[in-house]
Amino acid sequence: MASEEKSIKTVTEYIGQFKSIVGDAFVMVDEETLNNYAHDETENLHFLPDVVIKPRTAEEISAIMKICNAQQIPVTPRGAGTGLAGAALPQFGGVLISMERMNAILDIDERNLQITTEPGVITEVLQNAVKEKGLFYPPDPSSRGSCYIGGNISANSGGPKAVKYGVVKDYVLNLQVVLPTGEIIWTGANVLKNSTGYNLTQLIVGSEGTLGIVTKIVLKLLPHPKYDLLMLVPFNNLEKAGEAVSAIFRAGFIPSALELVEIDALKIVSKMMDSVAVPVTDDIAAHLIIEVDGNHMETLMSEMEAIASLLTEFDCGEIFFADDAQQKNELWKLRRRVAEAVKLDGYTIEEDTVVPRAELPALIRGVKELGKQYNFHAVCYGHAGDGNLHIRIKKEGSIYSLNNPEIIPGLKAMFTLVKSLGGTISGEHGIGLIQKEYMNIVFDEANLAIMKGIKKVFDPNTILNSGKIFDA
Ligand code: LAC
Ligand code: ZN
Repeated sequence: MASEEKSIKTVTEYIGQFKSIVGDAFVMVDEETLNNYAHDETENLHFLPDVVIKPRTAEEISAIMKICNAQQIPVTPRGAGTGLAGAALPQFGGVLISMERMNAILDIDERNLQITTEPGVITEVLQNAVKEKGLFYPPDPSSRGSCYIGGNISANSGGPKAVKYGVVKDYVLNLQVVLPTGEIIWTGANVLKNSTGYNLTQLIVGSEGTLGIVTKIVLKLLPHPKYDLLMLVPFNNLEKAGEAVSAIFRAGFIPSALELVEIDALKIVSKMMDSVAVPVTDDIAAHLIIEVDGNHMETLMSEMEAIASLLTEFDCGEIFFADDAQQKNELWKLRRRVAEAVKLDGYTIEEDTVVPRAELPALIRGVKELGKQYNFHAVCYGHAGDGNLHIRIKKEGSIYSLNNPEIIPGLKAMFTLVKSLGGTISGEHGIGLIQKEYMNIVFDEANLAIMKGIKKVFDPNTILNSGKIFDA
């Protein structure tokens, strides 16, 4: 393509300038580096950048953006590369900006319960740093041991604790952002309430690096709850497990996690991790993992007992209560590694459906029917308490969904089902590259026109992560 040739030629011409901005050691064009940054965790997709740049400051990024904007060089920002929608893939080549060196926690403000951080800090590192001070940053995607907080902001990530504590957007107070044209702005103020004009902070959250590059982040923190309890509840019927989920909330409980894992997924992850922590006998269809947390152990114990007795009305099997930190850790480790395990087992295509909680049984039933109709095998797992079900698909001979005529009709049917149930096509992974084809199932032309207009205001030359979320 002529434009791709132009971008390669132009990028090569500017390598010297990029080096003078960030230092020679942080501008890479060797094949090995380019290959390392050509993929993330999305299916098995691979797009080579022309150059990888590792800046240290917002000012350096600003200088890079000014060149790229003037020369119309495509720029793709990248966190840790754990994304599942392809948002960090440099599909048009050009410059890939890795945020890995911007990895300092700048301030933990114990007076105001806030943290100011750079985007390249690993989420779990941030969580542990605030926990040492008795504070809590709840959003905990499964990849929290490797993903970056900046990537979490660009995807508006969730994770198991979202069901009680909310998702990333509920914690972001203020962001420093480098715009595609090179200006550096703060989007808001370090305050808990803000009705001052359009909410640019929340517009950047979940915008998948298409509007600006986040360089500093101010997050709200909570006091860390003192205790948590965890139980594992088997069901011999997947839909019954789904029905039990909404009954828990109707009965007045808000667990700090309410996860569902279908038995096929549990078998695969248990095998990969060589674990016998979870029973995977043939009469079990799925498990619910239920956690409650708080500051009063007696209250938590009585909540757990009440939830357990409610679940017997939904024909659950024998409930396992995790006794100690080791058992809890093992269960959570299994849960967190489900995506990785089923992907290795050939379930390469992952969807991130979300429906109103009570529609979960209808979604599960519908997905299984679509599997028969479109000839794919699906395993379901995820954040049932939020109605957010990850559906991993395996279809003989197909490892990609992107532009794949074997897969697209089944996914269109699945997303049409999700829409008919009042849901949408991504709860926490984003649209990126691989879901954009389905945006018109959940949005009218008018919605998409507004989004494209916003993109144009931020990025008049469409250089920054363009072609993600929608064709720009
Ligand atoms: C999870 C990731 C894939 O829930 O979102 O495991
Ligand atoms: Zn998830």
